[in-house]
Amino acid sequence: MASSSSSSSLSLLLLFFLLIVSSSVAKTSSRPKALLLQVTKDAKTLQYVTQISQRTPLVPVKLTVDLGGDYMWVNCERTYTSSTYRPAPCGSAACQLLNTTSCTTECYSAPAPDCYNNTCGHGPTNSVANTGTSGQLGADVITIQSTNGKNVLKVVTVPRLYFVCGTNFIEAGLAAGVTGMAGLGRTGASIPSQLSSYFKFDRKFALCLSSSTKSSGVVFFGNGPYTLLPNIDASSSLTYTPLIINPVTENGFLGDASPKYFIGVTSIKINDKPVGINASLLSIDAEGYGGTTISTADPYTVLESSIYRAVVSAFVKAMPKNVQRVPSIAPFGACFGSKNISSTRLGPGVPSIDLVLQSKSVYWRIFGANSMVEAKKDVLCLAFVEARTDFRPRFAVVIGGHQIEDNLLQFDLSASRLGFSSSLLGRSTTCANFNFTSA
Ligand SMILES: *[C@@H]1O[C@H](CO)[C@@H](O)[C@H](O)[C@H]1NC(C)=O
Ligand SMILES: *[C@@H]1O[C@H](CO)[C@@H](O)[C@H](O)[C@H]1NC(C)=O
Ligand SMILES: *[C@@H]1O[C@H](CO)[C@@H](O)[C@H](O)[C@H]1NC(C)=O
Ligand SMILES: *[C@@H]1O[C@H](CO)[C@@H](O)[C@H](O)[C@H]1NC(C)=O
Ligand SMILES: *[C@@H]1O[C@H](CO)[C@@H](O)[C@H](O)[C@H]1NC(C)=O
Repeated sequence: MASSSSSSSLSLLLLFFLLIVSSSVAKTSSRPKALLLQVTKDAKTLQYVTQISQRTPLVPVKLTVDLGGDYMWVNCERTYTSSTYRPAPCGSAACQLLNTTSCTTECYSAPAPDCYNNTCGHGPTNSVANTGTSGQLGADVITIQSTNGKNVLKVVTVPRLYFVCGTNFIEAGLAAGVTGMAGLGRTGASIPSQLSSYFKFDRKFALCLSSSTKSSGVVFFGNGPYTLLPNIDASSSLTYTPLIINPVTENGFLGDASPKYFIGVTSIKINDKPVGINASLLSIDAEGYGGTTISTADPYTVLESSIYRAVVSAFVKAMPKNVQRVPSIAPFGACFGSKNISSTRLGPGVPSIDLVLQSKSVYWRIFGANSMVEAKKDVLCLAFVEARTDFRPRFAVVIGGHQIEDNLLQFDLSASRLGFSSSLLGRSTTCANFNFTSA
């Protein structure tokens, strides 16, 4: 192709102009309606691990998903190199998102993430290891995959996602390679809140955790559909229950509400028969104790002792007589030979456990796949554990990872309600069935 140098520079200029126009059009016309994070279950720790890209230049950052976490935190004590990190000045709108009055006026080391003057902070916590520290709030670039709810679309950029700097100390206990936690909690600073306010989509997100350590589940941000193969929209036919506010946080400042999500369980039924428990434990008292929360930091549902004993005893009684009880395997309290338990663990045989919600007709039914775990070959155990504490446990029921796997949970923050699907195995799909291929 022959061309004079002046016409080629003209066409370059034109190309440049077109690029500017098309990129500004792209910005307005293709603002994503939903985003997603791929989530894998770590076999060793049973933590649910995701990955984002952060900083300039971008680096992959692995994070443990913390459904009840206030915000994202990342260990800045490891190398944190980025030309786009910006500390949050005390009193700024970003600091107000954290509802924090804590301010570092002067830091006497070289300026670096977690050491800036006049920067607000908060106490990031590792909700797996129950450790905490203090750290500064700052923002940096992240990129995240967008989605049409069926496939993945292009990667999009969030120029300023606020997070708190953590340390080596609170990183301990996280899965291999993980350097922080992805807080999805009920705050203005959590990942879902920041994403929906930046991209201006519905304040909703959904969790679909895979029970397999070999194939990934997904967290969706924004509205459905949330389509799983073969072609099932897991956001259709959800049951809804109000999300309840616990007015007292466990880790933060006095006067702050808990960042965790609570639902109003009013009774527990096993094979449709009510379990005798002290119902007052199920409501949240003035000090923030009691009630039912959901946690991705606990691999199994944790029950207050008296509730635990009542549930185990009712479950054992409801188990068919031809299923042999065998010695318990810690931390579980009721184990059975698996020979006579239906192989799908969904069908008849394993007693159903219902968490009854706002009325008798609204309940979250837990089937065998979510109530039983294979503790060793040929032994299945009731996958609930007792709250181990010398004091009164903070919550009566903490619904853990095993009980929410292969269920879709949609947190609708505007309507303050939880939509839940119950087991997707009943609809012949699982949370490992999202098609991560690009459309
Ligand atoms: C903070 O301000 C003090 C006093 O002005 C200064 O000595 C120090 O180097 C500053 N620290 C950072 C991290 O900029
Ligand atoms: C923020 O703090 C104020 C005063 O302590 C409190 O009334 C308010 O509920 C807090 N907001 C949140 C979201 O916790
Ligand atoms: C039920 O639990 C509440 C809260 O812990 C306690 O005050 C009350 O005594 C309990 N009632 C019974 C009958 O055990
Ligand atoms: C299975 O059921 C048979 C007959 O009902 C019984 O003899 C056997 O002990 C049971 N085995 C286990 C492991 O529960
Ligand atoms: C996954 O999505 C891709 C792109 O739309 C499509 O070509 C492929 O057939 C899908 N996979 C399955 C198993 O449906």
